[in-house]
Amino acid sequence: MTEIKTKILGTGIYLPKKVVTNLDLEKVIDTSDQWIFERTGIRARRICSTEGGEWPTDMAMHASWKALETARLQPNDIDMIIFASVTPDQKLPNSASLLQQKLGITNNCACMDIAVACSGFVYGVNMANSFIKTGMAKNVLVVGSEMLSREVDWNDRTICILFGDGCGVGIVGRSEEGDESQILSTHLGSDGSGKEFFNQPVGGAVEPITETHIKEGTHFMRMKGKEMFKVATRTLADNAKIVLERAGMTLDQVDWVVPHQANIRIIETTANLIGISMDKVIVNIENYGNTSAATVPIAFHEAIESGKIKRGDVVILDAFGAGLTFGATLLRY
Ligand code: UT7
Repeated sequence: MTEIKTKILGTGIYLPKKVVTNLDLEKVIDTSDQWIFERTGIRARRICSTEGGEWPTDMAMHASWKALETARLQPNDIDMIIFASVTPDQKLPNSASLLQQKLGITNNCACMDIAVACSGFVYGVNMANSFIKTGMAKNVLVVGSEMLSREVDWNDRTICILFGDGCGVGIVGRSEEGDESQILSTHLGSDGSGKEFFNQPVGGAVEPITETHIKEGTHFMRMKGKEMFKVATRTLADNAKIVLERAGMTLDQVDWVVPHQANIRIIETTANLIGISMDKVIVNIENYGNTSAATVPIAFHEAIESGKIKRGDVVILDAFGAGLTFGATLLRY
C-alpha cells in the first residue's frame, strides 16, 4: 500500500471588527503606547462584540468558508473538525459540533475540541496529519479560535495589554502522488511542571466561580510573564530543530518560520537561537497581539494572502503555550 501524504489545502481567517489600540488602553489603565510597543511589539488588538455574531464559533464559520473556497471543497467534504480553543462558546456541547451545524455539515463527521492554549493550531494540524495518514479521515478542518477578551482582567495592566481575539483555520487533506506540497514532519509535547507559569484555576470542577472571585477578580487568567518568556524562547527554538532533524533537513532549506505571536522579543530571541534571519520570520503581532491558538493560522494565512509564502516554500509552524504545551509542523506549502 502506498503511504498517504498530507498537505494544507486551504486557510482562512476572521478578525473581529473592533480595534482597540494602545492609545485606547492608555485612557483606561496606567500604561503607555511606548511601554507596550517597546516591551511586546503590540500596537493594537481586535476585540469580539459581546452583542453576538462574533463568538468563537461564528469567527470559525467565517474563516472556514474562506478556507473551503481556497481548498475548493464543499462543507460536506469535511469529515473531521478539530477545534482548538481555551475560550469555547460554551462548556457543552463542544465548539466543533456547534461549528459543524453552522457550516451546514450533515455527514455526522467527528467533532472534537482541544484545549492546549497557544499550541492549539499546531496540535490540530499534527493530529489531522495522523488521522489522514491512518485513513481515518480525508479532509480535516483545523480551527484556532479565541475570545480571550472574556478571560483577561482589564484592570491588570501586566496581562490585558497582551491579548486579543481572532480566528484562523486550515484544512488538512491528502497530497496526491507527484504533488510536492506536503507535511514533512511533526512534533508535539507538553511539560506539566510549568503549570504555575500560566493558568486559570478558578472556574473548573475543583473551584467553581463564586461571588468572591468575581469581586476580587481572581477568576481571570494569571501569568508569570518572565518565566514564560524564558521557557518560550528555548522551547520554540528546540521545536524548530526537532522537526528539521525528523525530516532530515537543514535550516538553509527553510523559507519561512511562522511562530506563535506572544511578544516580538520572544520571536526575535527565538530566531536568534534557531539561527534564522528575521526576514524569514512571519510577524503580525503589532496588529493583533496574542490571540492564543489563533496566532499561527492568522499569521500563516496573511503571509499566504500577501504573496510572501508561496506554494513550494518550506515553512515551520512553531508554537508554545500554557501547559506548558508545545509543537511544530514542518511543511512544504
Ligand atoms: O502565549 C504565551 C504566553 N505569553 C508569554 O509567553 C508572554 C511572555 N512574557 C512577556 O511577554 C513579558 O514578560 C511581559 C510583556 C509580560 C512583561 O515584560 P517584562 O519586560 O518582563 O516586564 P516586567 O514584568 O519585568 O515589568 C517591568 C516594569 C514593572 O515595573 P517596575 O517593577 O520595574 O517598577 C511593571 O510593573 O513594567 C511595569 N509594567 C507596565 N508598565 C506600563 C508591567 N506592565 C506594564 C504596562 N504598562 N502594561
